Amino acid sequence: MGYKITVIPGDGIGPEIVREAVKVLDAAGEKYGFRLDYTEVLMGGASIDVHGVPLTDEVIAQAKASDAVLMGSIGGDAATSPWYQLEPSKRPEAGLLKIRKELNLFANLRPAYLYSELKAACPLRSDIIGGGFDMMIMRELTGGLYFGERCTTEENGVRKAKDTLTYDENEIRRIAKRGFDIARKRRKKVTSVDKANVLDSSRLWRAVVEDVAKDYPDVELEHMLVDNCAMQLVRDPKQFDVILTENMFGDILSDEASMVTGSIGMLSSASLNETKFGLYEPSHGSAPDIAGKDLANPIATILSAAMMLRFSLDLDKAADAIEAAVKQVLTEGYRTGDIYSEGCKKVGTVEMGSLIAERV
Ligand code: NAD
Ligand code: IPM
Ligand code: MN
Repeated sequence: MGYKITVIPGDGIGPEIVREAVKVLDAAGEKYGFRLDYTEVLMGGASIDVHGVPLTDEVIAQAKASDAVLMGSIGGDAATSPWYQLEPSKRPEAGLLKIRKELNLFANLRPAYLYSELKAACPLRSDIIGGGFDMMIMRELTGGLYFGERCTTEENGVRKAKDTLTYDENEIRRIAKRGFDIARKRRKKVTSVDKANVLDSSRLWRAVVEDVAKDYPDVELEHMLVDNCAMQLVRDPKQFDVILTENMFGDILSDEASMVTGSIGMLSSASLNETKFGLYEPSHGSAPDIAGKDLANPIATILSAAMMLRFSLDLDKAADAIEAAVKQVLTEGYRTGDIYSEGCKKVGTVEMGSLIAERV
């Protein structure tokens, strides 16, 4: 079987980590008898340098014509990169938001899971970690503050900026349904996170989620205010199963959750629409501070590639094999710098990718 995969290496560490994910995918293809045909395209800063814009129509068309998209990360250092001299709509991040919107990728799944091997890399005390934790952050990805009207003006010499947060009930309902469907296959608990004590959009969110919950009597629903959730994630992360939340809160909480798994270099993600199609990328950014140094942890991207096999291509056995291979290298004590602890074997990006590919 052959599948068409659009590959977006992106900027910074993007090309390095995607190369390792492709290496692991090819090892899985060899073992499980499938072929992936990759088409590499430019996005973010890499596209600006060539085309003057962060995302071209050709790339959108290419992505739409493929079975799935595998992505690294985009963006640069805002203080030093010339990309940030451009107007906001032409910067690298605008390309990422546009492809999410154009492909209708409203459901962003970010699994935060503590490998027992990484307890020493987790900044929490062992009595808090206990037997570990395993949560799925379901982040709404095509609405809210990211896509609301915004403007910067000046009145009587005073600069003013405005961003707006809008959700309609249909946008909330579809992500809520996805969250409950996923909870049903897990530990059957949804924590819906909002700021309903202040925001109208959150009060609507809460009402619609309550409504959707009626179709899932077997799933427990609780509501939590976002500031409390940020605190609970470090106080007792094992209380969470599925965290269901809007775009901006999900962005912030997923970075926080990643750190308790040991490193943001471990947090994979899948961005899905109503079909089997998806875009798969790590939750972290282009890490300009470590780019080109063979220091980046490729595991988040490799685990995202496994999600691609599972969700978009129905290659569950191959996905299982990749996940098992990741676990095995950790058990054998191999660590990139971000998850290193005393007594382990420190390896770079390329070696980590090769070790995982060999064990698939
Ligand atoms: P970042 O996630 O790139 O980096 C934050 C910190 O985590 C850095 O110290 C970095 O070295 C480290 N880190 C990140 N990934 C790592 C990995 N795989 N292995 C080891 N260490 C890793 O966030 P930032 O510095 O705030 O943003 C840098 C750029 O990335 C910005 O331009 C931002 O807009 C962009 N960004 C892109 C995406 C994406 O493409 N989806 C996501 C987040 C940020
Ligand atoms: C992420 C990133 C993006 C976001 C940025 C780069 C626009 O932080 O994927 O988490 O905020 O969604
Ligand atoms: Mn983010």
